[in-house]
Amino acid sequence: MGRIPFVCGNWKCHKTIADAVALVTELKNTLGMATRAGTIDVAVAPPFTAIAAVVKRLEGTQIGVAGQSCHWEDQGAFTGEISAPMLYEAGARFVILGHSERRQLFGELDQAVSVKTKSALRAGLSPIVCVGETLGEREAGETMHRVGAQLDGSLAGIGAAEATRVTIAYEPVWAIGTGRNASPAQAQEVHAFIRGKLAAMYGAIATGMRIQYGGSVKPSNAVELMAQPDIDGALVGGASLVADQFVAIARAAIEKGK
Ligand code: 13P
Repeated sequence: MGRIPFVCGNWKCHKTIADAVALVTELKNTLGMATRAGTIDVAVAPPFTAIAAVVKRLEGTQIGVAGQSCHWEDQGAFTGEISAPMLYEAGARFVILGHSERRQLFGELDQAVSVKTKSALRAGLSPIVCVGETLGEREAGETMHRVGAQLDGSLAGIGAAEATRVTIAYEPVWAIGTGRNASPAQAQEVHAFIRGKLAAMYGAIATGMRIQYGGSVKPSNAVELMAQPDIDGALVGGASLVADQFVAIARAAIEKGK
């Protein structure tokens, strides 16, 4: 299969600089060696304010750093925004885009996700593009339709050569922060659909693209989720704020990568 598992911790709006450095110091001590084997990619997405300090503390490890969003222009009169080149300069090499909280709470549309993805790729960042249905959409039998439309819109104008650098994160909205994860079978069903959709869009390279699952991933469900053939890692919220929990989830991915 050849896909290296990828686990990213999305810290959302948590952690001061001091707290962030303390957390990655623990990760560095426990995961630093494990990731060096090349069996897994691990990243953390701190708030913007802590990125530079986290990058510095993680120097010499294979643990990467991600932004949680970026603007679609490199610079300009966009009060409150951070651009992709700014993230790159601060040391980030990944960026989460189109997270459901951005979509639901800040009105981000697929078209914005697409231009942000292009800007991230231009700047040398690897985007993690999030998709996922709401509970209402799932109950109405619209999951695949919704996820398919989000992929079409969010990846519009992105060619196959660039798509190899894109990770997709399937995050059912009803599973985020609720403690109620998608069952491994439910997640695999959507991941297989996404893989098929990517194959239709990009051809053979879709087999090498990574698709993370996100939504109440915990040490207790990570092994079972990661055992699914089309689940290539996890985008972890709450459990990524606690070193032991994030490390346990990363270890489940390391096992898959062996
Ligand atoms: P939780 O793991 O807290 O459910 O959050 C998932 C998520 O939104 C990761 O991006």
